Amino acid sequence: EGQLKGRDLLSLVDYTSEEIDYLLQKALVMKKDARAGKIPPVLQGKTLGMIFEKHSTRTRISFEVGMVQLGGHAMYMNANDLQIGRGESVYDTGNVLSGYLDAVMIRANSHEMVEELAKHSSIPIINGLTDMFHPCQALADLLTMIEVKGTVAGKKLAYVGDGNNVAHSLAIGAAHMGMHVAIATPKGFEFNPNLFVKAKKIASANGGSVTQTYDPVEAVKDADIVYTDVWASMGQEEEAAARLEAFKGFQINDALVANAKKDYMFLHCLPAHREEEVATSVIDGPNSYVFQQAENRLHAQKAVLAALL
Ligand code: CP
Ligand code: NVA
Repeated sequence: EGQLKGRDLLSLVDYTSEEIDYLLQKALVMKKDARAGKIPPVLQGKTLGMIFEKHSTRTRISFEVGMVQLGGHAMYMNANDLQIGRGESVYDTGNVLSGYLDAVMIRANSHEMVEELAKHSSIPIINGLTDMFHPCQALADLLTMIEVKGTVAGKKLAYVGDGNNVAHSLAIGAAHMGMHVAIATPKGFEFNPNLFVKAKKIASANGGSVTQTYDPVEAVKDADIVYTDVWASMGQEEEAAARLEAFKGFQINDALVANAKKDYMFLHCLPAHREEEVATSVIDGPNSYVFQQAENRLHAQKAVLAALL
C-alpha cells in the first residue's frame, strides 16, 4: 500500500497488475467489512473535491457516499461554476486546489487536461471519466466479475460496441487480470490503436490476450462475460442518429448471447439505452449483474480513496 499513497489514478495503464489486484482485494475486504457494520473512519478530516464537466449519477454519488462512509467529506463542483469555467488556467487551479483539498476526482472532456491538472497538483488526482478512460468503472467491473466468477484469469470477456473510454479501461484492466478480451466494434469505431498495443502487451504478460474483430458473434462466442456501453457517449449527442445506423447488428440481444457460455454474465456501466445497445430481455434478464456492478463503484472507489489518500 505504501507505493500507492499520494499517487494519481488517471488510467490503469499507469498501474502494475499487482497494484490493481491489491486494490481489488482491498475492495472485497472493505465491502465485506462494511456489510458487517465495520467501517473504520480512515479518512477522518480529509476532503475530496469533485469537479464535473459532464453529467453523472453513479460517479458523483458513489464518491460522495464513499468519502462520508470513510469519515471524510466530499465537495461537488460543476466546472462551469469554478473560475476554470471562465478561463483560469489549469496550472493555477491545480496549485490552488492542492492547498485546500486532500484529493480531486474529476470528470472531464479531455484526458490531456486531467493529465495537466495532475502535473500541477501535489495531491492525488482521480479520473472520474475522460474521453479516453474510465478507470474507476473498470475496477468496479473487475470486482463484479471476481464476485460472480471467482477467479477471472483465463476467462473470456467480450466487449461489443463503441471503442470508447469504457472499452479502453475495461480491456486494460482485464488484461492486467490475465483475461481473454475480445472486442467487436463497427468499422470506424475501433479501439484506440496505441492502447490496443498496450493492452495486448499487458495481457500477454499475464497469460491473457486481446483481440479485435468487426464480427459481434465471433467476439461473443463462448464468452464468460458480455459487456456493452452506449453507442453515443456524452458529448456525441449530435452523432447519435448516424451512430444508431452504424451500430446496427451490434445490439446485445437473445440471439447474440446464445453464442456465449450458458452462465455468461451481462455487464453495462450504465446509463443504458434499452433496445439500442442492449435488448431489455438481456439487461433485465437473469444473467444481468448491472446493479451489483453499479453498487461496486462505491466499494472499488472506497478502496482507491483509502489507498491513495
Ligand atoms: N457509469 C458511470 O460512470 O455513471 P455516471 O455517468 O452516472 O457517473
Ligand atoms: N461512454 C459513456 C460512459 C458513461 C458512463 C460516456 O462517455 O458517456
